[in-house]
Amino acid sequence: MVHHARLGFDPGSVFDSVAGGYQATRPNYPDSLYDALERHVGPLAGRRVLDVGAGTGISARALAARGAIVVALDPSLAMAATLRSASVSLPATLGRAEALPIASGSADLITCAQAWHWVRLPDAAIECRRVLGVGGRLALWWNVSEDEGAFFDALAAECGIDRYGGRVRQDDRASLVDVGGFSDLVTDAVRWEWTVPIEHWMRTVQTRSILAKLGTDASERLGAIEDVARRFFPGGSVTEWFTTRLAIAIP
Ligand SMILES: C[S@@+](CC[C@H](N)C(=O)[O-])C[C@H]1O[C@@H](n2cnc3c(N)ncnc32)[C@H](O)[C@@H]1O
Repeated sequence: MVHHARLGFDPGSVFDSVAGGYQATRPNYPDSLYDALERHVGPLAGRRVLDVGAGTGISARALAARGAIVVALDPSLAMAATLRSASVSLPATLGRAEALPIASGSADLITCAQAWHWVRLPDAAIECRRVLGVGGRLALWWNVSEDEGAFFDALAAECGIDRYGGRVRQDDRASLVDVGGFSDLVTDAVRWEWTVPIEHWMRTVQTRSILAKLGTDASERLGAIEDVARRFFPGGSVTEWFTTRLAIAIP
């Protein structure tokens, strides 16, 4: 286990126990996100893409579907094994952003979906620049809950569950440019809606790192979360609004 001094736990193994639920229930990113990515970096078809923090392959599969030549990388054996069984033809390797097992200058694009907040800076930024070829880019994206209603306030107050992306800004120019050493940053965002039955939404909530960390001790907290969800969505389906924020770092 790699102890992360800032976080106090290893984010490379925190999802191990929930890998199956992650693959089965987390939403895909919308097509409009990949359209925005292509507007900024050009067509993905034929591009050599390293997907860092690939998890169970949600982003890697979508990039490959657009014709990119993708290698998926993640430190978690459980997440990588789940990716392998879901997508047998997608190359996957174990590794961390801070020490990429990849030759220098060999990627046209490095992507990091919903994972850059777990990496150690500046090490990960330095490694990404080493692996990027001339003209290469690092693209980060992550979901932010946009619900303005009382649902997320109640989840925070009653269950200690924050909105997605509410605390960490991964397009922070200071950390990517001043600390990370990139020369510039371009940002974009797409908005989308996700509606699922409460049962599905509850399985997704279980894959949040804060609950995955608790293991079986999460059951009481999960009961309280379900009570809130049923109170706010008596019809039986939860709707969430997300903005997926995209940041493209230029070496
Ligand atoms: C929230 S998941 C995102 C997975 C996937 N990219 C997606 O969009 O569904 C975060 C992933 O980052 C991985 N991770 C944690 N620390 C990492 C590090 N230092 N380098 C690379 N990946 C890391 C975790 O193992 C986990 O699979």
